[in-house]
Amino acid sequence: ISNLKIAIDGPAGAGKSTVAKELAQRLNIEYIDTGAMYRAVTLKLLDKHVDFSDTDTVVDILNSTEIQFENGRIYLDNKDVTEDIRSALVTANVSKVASIPEVRRILVSLQRKIADCKSVVMEGRDIGTTVLKDADLKIFLTSSVEIRAKRRYEELKRKGVKIEFSEVIEQIKARDLQDETREYSPLKMADDAHLIDASNMSVDEVVCHIIELLK
Ligand code: C5P
Repeated sequence: ISNLKIAIDGPAGAGKSTVAKELAQRLNIEYIDTGAMYRAVTLKLLDKHVDFSDTDTVVDILNSTEIQFENGRIYLDNKDVTEDIRSALVTANVSKVASIPEVRRILVSLQRKIADCKSVVMEGRDIGTTVLKDADLKIFLTSSVEIRAKRRYEELKRKGVKIEFSEVIEQIKARDLQDETREYSPLKMADDAHLIDASNMSVDEVVCHIIELLK
């Protein structure tokens, strides 16, 4: 297929990025991290001290915002924000921003445009249900909340962030709850998605399983 579309959705910390990146590399197609787009918008709104409930201002800012992916880096208005969008402050606020319907409308149309003329592995929360409803393959990737929190905890520890494991579990649960219960385009498995519980699987096993499904 010249225009292959693979959607990978799932809750926070399920390993979607690692799997999607590896899969895209093996298939030699593009990888699009839609969460990074919501994070970039959140970073900009926080920097500008915008009140998230002030929809007009939020929309104005979004309409004059440029988000680009290049060589695995993300650029916000031509500035490399790959590291900045992973901050604790952005992580704590991103689900609030992602629940604003106008924000989703603008980012979803941008995501569709990116996928329009090329093959992609697109990863997020609503790719199979909304963004790429006609994807060739839809995956819903999950793991137990303990395993997801443990992965996030190890990642933060490696970065030198001081945080309790219990706090990481609470943060992940809070973000999942907000993503699953928002009114507009919530995190939900598409009816035609393949569920993969990766609790006891390695990245390689998950990627191989997806490639099998593709055949
Ligand atoms: O994937 P990541 O954890 O970086 O995503 C950050 C947040 O962006 C999610 O918790 C969710 O609120 C939002 N998001 C979304 N829809 C997507 C991707 C991410 O609402 N397609």
